[in-house]
Amino acid sequence: MRTPIVAGNWKMHKTIAEAVELTRDVRRGVMDVEGVQVVLCPPFTALAAVREAIGPAGIGLGAQNMHYEEQGAFTGEISPLMLAELCQYVILGHSERRQYFGETDEGVNKKARAALAHGLTPIICVGENLEQNRAGETAAFVGGQVRAAFEGISAEDAARIVVAYEPIWAIGTGVAAVPAEVNRIIGLSIRGALADMYGEAVAQSVRVQYGGSVKPDNVADFAVQSEIDGALVGGASLRADSFVAIVKASRPR
Ligand code: 13P
Repeated sequence: MRTPIVAGNWKMHKTIAEAVELTRDVRRGVMDVEGVQVVLCPPFTALAAVREAIGPAGIGLGAQNMHYEEQGAFTGEISPLMLAELCQYVILGHSERRQYFGETDEGVNKKARAALAHGLTPIICVGENLEQNRAGETAAFVGGQVRAAFEGISAEDAARIVVAYEPIWAIGTGVAAVPAEVNRIIGLSIRGALADMYGEAVAQSVRVQYGGSVKPDNVADFAVQSEIDGALVGGASLRADSFVAIVKASRPR
């Protein structure tokens, strides 16, 4: 049994004060929820304050990106060594980073290895764009992204990784993917690639989230799918009421 993981990717939103307020409200809202791992991913500037606001609550904390080196002359970058002091998770290879900041599969792989070496759990994002989707290239493209991201990673480490399947055309558009189709792509391309690389046991233990316009009113349709283990939530994670509703609807039934 895989524990569903629902993560809020706050992207470039929330001042420290706003982040603390949202964290407190989420904490209150999910206090009695069992069977779901909740993770908050604020901007770097709010990580320490959110960590403090989470306190002893069983809520995970994640960053949205990192460099793969421990330290060095990389102005403006944050290292895995630094993050390991603050949080447990790190989102890697989000499509916005691939699109606007030139992230490559190779870079994502380097970051994933570095994160694992520092005890961080990578949340590796994959997903096709609209053109690829229309051309019927989704399965091959996503499978390739998974293979590239996991290259050279041991089976033991691979089992700790979380993959987020986020079709680019579904992000921030209000048009979520069709749950049954997401289930099919995860089984075929993501678990399929992992099974080829590591065998069925690892493929079945990796948690795979869905992301892309997840809202309180559609999350249950994803949560019931056998291959989907929670959600990576953007817009709807910026308010406690909608995020808490998504967490509650993601409980295993
Ligand atoms: P939205 O939930 O706003 O579509 O964003 C999804 C996403 O990119 C999460 O990483």
